[in-house]
Amino acid sequence: MQLGVAKNSTMTERSIRACCLLKWLLVLNIICLISAQSTFFEISSPWVWTCKEKKCLRTRASETTQGQSNAVCKLTCYDSATLWPLPTGKTTLSKDISAFFANNVRVAKLTSNSSKTDDMLKEAAAIFTGYIQQMESNGLGGSTRDCSVSANTCASASYVSSEHLFNVEVIVTQNFTPLALDTDESYTLDVKTINSVTTAYIVAETFFGARHAMETLSQLITWDELSNSLVVIKDVHIEDSPVFPHRGFTLDTARNYMEIPLIKRIIDGLSYNKLNVFHWHISDSNSFPFVSNREPLMAIYGAHSARQIYRPADIQELVHYAQESKSFPNWTLQATLVLDGNGGPLYGMGDLILCLDEQPWEEYCAQPPCGIFNPINDKIYTVLSNIYKDMADLFQSDMFHMGGDEVNMKCWKEKESITQWLVDKGWDKDPNAYLKLWSNYQNQSLAKLDEAYGRNNHIILWNSDLTAKEHATNYLDRNRYIIQYWNTWNDTILKDLYEDGYKLIISNYDALYLDCGYGSWVGNGLNNWCSPFIGWKSVYDNSPRAMIENFKLSYNKDQILGGEAALWAEQSKGLAIESKIWPRLSAHAERFWTDPDTKWLAAETRMHMQRERMVERGITADPLQPEWCVQNDVHPVISNNNM
Ligand SMILES: *[C@@H]1O[C@H](CO)[C@@H](O)[C@H](O)[C@H]1NC(C)=O
Ligand SMILES: *[C@@H]1O[C@H](CO)[C@@H](O)[C@H](O)[C@H]1NC(C)=O
Ligand SMILES: *[C@@H]1O[C@H](CO)[C@@H](O)[C@H](O)[C@H]1NC(C)=O
Ligand SMILES: *[C@@H]1O[C@H](CO)[C@@H](O)[C@H](O)[C@H]1NC(C)=O
Repeated sequence: MQLGVAKNSTMTERSIRACCLLKWLLVLNIICLISAQSTFFEISSPWVWTCKEKKCLRTRASETTQGQSNAVCKLTCYDSATLWPLPTGKTTLSKDISAFFANNVRVAKLTSNSSKTDDMLKEAAAIFTGYIQQMESNGLGGSTRDCSVSANTCASASYVSSEHLFNVEVIVTQNFTPLALDTDESYTLDVKTINSVTTAYIVAETFFGARHAMETLSQLITWDELSNSLVVIKDVHIEDSPVFPHRGFTLDTARNYMEIPLIKRIIDGLSYNKLNVFHWHISDSNSFPFVSNREPLMAIYGAHSARQIYRPADIQELVHYAQESKSFPNWTLQATLVLDGNGGPLYGMGDLILCLDEQPWEEYCAQPPCGIFNPINDKIYTVLSNIYKDMADLFQSDMFHMGGDEVNMKCWKEKESITQWLVDKGWDKDPNAYLKLWSNYQNQSLAKLDEAYGRNNHIILWNSDLTAKEHATNYLDRNRYIIQYWNTWNDTILKDLYEDGYKLIISNYDALYLDCGYGSWVGNGLNNWCSPFIGWKSVYDNSPRAMIENFKLSYNKDQILGGEAALWAEQSKGLAIESKIWPRLSAHAERFWTDPDTKWLAAETRMHMQRERMVERGITADPLQPEWCVQNDVHPVISNNNM
């Protein structure tokens, strides 16, 4: 009994103690939280990183004297630092770093012999220094760099000196010309450090090479958590130029409208990856948001709403942003024009569009609403001419995309007016009468386009029935037309176009359509037509050489102008599109800038860092693995068979 009481009292005592302890822990926790917030930079992490066999291994700080921050380890441990896309020429990077503060960066010299280049270089230099300031302020996390106010934001490692200077000198040798297919985008970048001065020397033929060099230079700099400073690789020599001249992204703003600020963010992202073409699929049968001064009713009736439009001033602003601010050229904005069916009858111009909203739609078009040009109504060429003139006022690129796929000839075949027209022309006996009609449309509208521009642009068309074997060479001059290829990587359509000698832009949907793998919005299917979802590895490994050699043909690189990934936007809108685009588009960028012999596995660690770099700069890019893998440089490959 006594024992019992004693036991009881002990239990009570224990539970009281436990209770108090719990309270105390709670209080302690709160105190810890508060102090963690106020002394963020004083917590020293138990982890550092050490470089072993080109991997950065997370290591206990107490177990090494070689420890670095994760970012600095990755900058100095890998052969090519964290550069993305990889340079194609000679690359030498020293393993040591210099520390500096953002306000010691000077763009000391910009030398070119055109004032246009000078102006653009100044803007590019401001963007470059902007990245560096952003890296520092992200690193400081809202704290200031002022050492006298908060000593802990400065110097904890011996190599930090608030005196270390960082100079940038740029020389551009050619006179200014807007970016075109034959523009030299090459550059050399040297970084040299003598005592407390680091100087980066950039030499490029053109402005465009120089801006790529600044992007590369920004990637040789990182924030170092251990010293609370920026660091740059001390000595560098890089020679670089892209393998393909045309490296792009197609954005569809017709299925769902995208705001101009969102498009600007995409253009920013292109510049981080040295992509140089923004192909704007501005209209389609679903909507016509392009405000044409000469044909204003098109947008009034064709836009989703009065707010969801692109006015000439919006477009001018975007073009300026692309070419000046973000350093993209006149030809990066190519508009594809697909006229909206709704415009037709409103003009009192007769039927401009046939099979408008025809049912069952699946027999007449690839997706509702249906509608196809009436190629025998001359007024269609007047409308096109006006719209082309408006486009020529806004887009000065040397390329123009005329769209041209998804023509469904069934509609034409069923229209008596058309069959009669073919009889009158004496074309009705021709087994290819309807292709001939299509070709006639293409020729007439091309004449209007050339007239509107007052010159002959390169014309891009999607591959289609018109570009098929036996037909393409009858209808499409290969010196005039570039074909954008969208079928699968090993479809013989590609072989035929290649053998017919057309210059090609690669957009095979099984690697480069970023909208694949979402649910089906049309019909009863569960997954959309081009499912499954395409991971970055497939994007990365999408090699034009492999495609051509797969057909046992000899590979002529010059016939491949480059590649474009695409986001068709039936199910995309708003900021959410960024995680669909990024970082997969970065994989595409390295494939077409560097075209490495290696596959994705060799790029994986850098790919993670490129994704982190974009996130730092404000892009909502999806992670590709749990952060633990990134921090430990571990790839969970199970066996070599998996690679
Ligand atoms: C611009 O500079 C390059 C090399 O420095 C030179 O070859 C070229 O003649 C110069 N052009 C003009 C217009 O001065
Ligand atoms: C783009 O083209 C327009 C008209 O040809 C020209 O005024 C402008 O300077 C060009 N911009 C660039 C960056 O070449
Ligand atoms: C269109 O022009 C091409 C030449 O560029 C020609 O070969 C073709 O026959 C023309 N089509 C028609 C229907 O006249
Ligand atoms: C094309 O490649 C796919 C895999 O990507 C394969 O399943 C298919 O059999 C190939 N087709 C041909 C005609 O080789």
